[in-house]
Order: sequence, then structure tokens, then C-alpha cells
Amino acid sequence: MANIQRAILEWYDQNKRNLPWRDSKNPYFIWISEVVLQQTRVEQGAPFFHRLIEAFPSVDALAAATEQEVLNVWKGLGYYSRARNLHKAAQEIITAHSGIFPSEFLALKKLPGVGEYTAAALSSISFNKAIAAVDGNVIRIVSRLLDLSDPVETSQTSRTITEFANEILSPSRPGDFNQAMMDFGSMVCTPKSPSCASCPLASVCLARINNTQHLRPVKKPKKKPINRFLLFKVHLQDGKIRMIQQQKGSIWENLFLFPFDEFSSETAFLAKINQESQVINDRAIHILSHQRLHYAVIMTQEHTPANSEFWFSRDELYDLPTPILVPRILTRVENQLAPLF
Ligand code: ADE
Repeated sequence: MANIQRAILEWYDQNKRNLPWRDSKNPYFIWISEVVLQQTRVEQGAPFFHRLIEAFPSVDALAAATEQEVLNVWKGLGYYSRARNLHKAAQEIITAHSGIFPSEFLALKKLPGVGEYTAAALSSISFNKAIAAVDGNVIRIVSRLLDLSDPVETSQTSRTITEFANEILSPSRPGDFNQAMMDFGSMVCTPKSPSCASCPLASVCLARINNTQHLRPVKKPKKKPINRFLLFKVHLQDGKIRMIQQQKGSIWENLFLFPFDEFSSETAFLAKINQESQVINDRAIHILSHQRLHYAVIMTQEHTPANSEFWFSRDELYDLPTPILVPRILTRVENQLAPLF
């Protein structure tokens, strides 16, 4: 164990990535970086990290913002429940913790949106607590070191991985060690074509010894995403566009989206598109983590008043929290017709 720990830290000291959130141990910055990195790769995360901490430089600033302001700065990262939880957690830190970031793993884990991984990353990086942060990198590295042949999601295997990660963790540099595993997983023990030839752990890696590294980690087959069929309606009047604020229960809760009809089957969806005259695109696919959205777009003047509907100018639209589908659809429409407004 001690030699694995030493090898990982030595590798990190020579090869660690220079990432913007590594200049500080401020738990607020670390928290923001971790939440952003749940959504996007490290390479793409930096601009979002900067955007968030510029808009909300402290936990107080984040708590004092409106949800709409937070969603708006989050725009482009997707999975908006993460942004809502970020906002709620900031408010909880103000109300339940007098504005002081909790340092204990268990207190952190109680905050909205903070799970085992984030609580471990935060408490180790910012507060030097010796807890392994088990992310996909750690799972891959450990499943190769131990050559685990059961799916890593099964409870026994998952426990084995967490226990092993805690055994090799450096008690004196837990934050560095956790980040070392992340970098090592991204740069050496990569999912495809791992760099075993130059790996400092090659001599103790059972998968390498058994030549099974390409087969690890074993994962359970993914659930198939559900298909949804949506017809978006672009409705312009007097230089304004009609938008509906989405309600609770929607994956786009509180975001603004074009009015749309949803169909329960592909047949019904295609039949409807065939009846329409001003179809902008008849079939596009937008992939979310658990859903495949098949959508078409029409221009319409038909107006069935809906709850939570609003009319916006282009400038106003730009400042609204919208799913990334909205600018995408507008671009498609304008490419086909002409600038709308
Ligand atoms: N992925 C998530 N958090 C990270 C961090 N602190 N360093 C590198 N990669 C990460």
C-alpha cells in the first residue's frame, strides 16, 4: 500500500495539471469546481468555473442571488437541477451554518446536491480530512490494480474499491492524493489505451500482469434511454417570441422554452409533422443523459393561451435561463428563413 501511495504522489508532484481551482483551498471555490466538473470535462470546465465565481464571488453572493440569475450563469452546462441545488446549498450554508462552510464530511453530505464523492473531495482538498474521493478515475484505477472481474456497481465490489482507495490514501496529503488519482486516471490509466508501458504502478497492477487492463472496469449494461417526441412551436408576434416557463416535474423546471406538443409515439409524431405546412426541420435528435429527444420545429401563429407564458424580445431572450435547445432551434430557424427579430 505504502509503495502505491508514494508512487502516485511522486507522479503527481511531477505531472499534476495546472488547473485554476488548484491555486486555492477556499472551500467555496473547490465546491464550485467540483460541481462544474460533474457536468463537464476538465478542459471545458475552466471557463464555466471562472464565469460562476465572477458572477458569485462568495457563498454569500450565491445565496443572495435569485434562482433565475444562477440558472442563467449555469446556461450551457445542462442538468439544471445541479444549479438549483448549488443555490439551495449556498442558502443552507448561510442559514444553518452561519455562513461558514462546514468542514466535516457528514455535514457536507447533508447539503443539497452534495453526495459521497463531492463531500470527500471538498473535505480532503479544503480541510485536509483523510477520506478517499471515489470518482470514475479511482474506480478504473482500483479495478485494474486489483483486476476486479465483477461489475463495479455491485455493492460488494463498490465497497472493495472504496476500502482500497482509503487504504492507499495519504493521511498527510489527502487532498493532493485524491487529485493525484483524478489526474493519473485522466492522463495515465485512461479508459482506452492506458499508458501501461510508462506507468509507475505497472509492476503491482494485477490487470497489467494478467493482460486484462482493456477489460477493466467491468460495468453493468446501461439502461436504455427513453425516447420522447416533441414538436416545438416558434411563435412570433410584433417582434416578440412566445416562451413558456416550465413547471415543476419537468426536466427543464423554471427554464423558458418554446411551447411544444409531446406525442406518445413516433407514429403520432410523424403524422402530425406531415400535416403541418411550415416545418423548419422535420427530425432532429437531442441527447440528454437518460432521454433521447426527437424533435421537429414549426412556425406557428396559433395561440392557445397557456399558464406561465411570456413574450420576449431577442435581447430579453438572451438574458433568460433557457435550455441549450433554444439557441440551437433559433439558429436552425434563422438559417432556413431569415433573422427572426
Ligand atoms: N475532476 C473533478 N475534480 C477534479 C479535480 N479537483 N482535479 C482534477 N480533476 C477533477
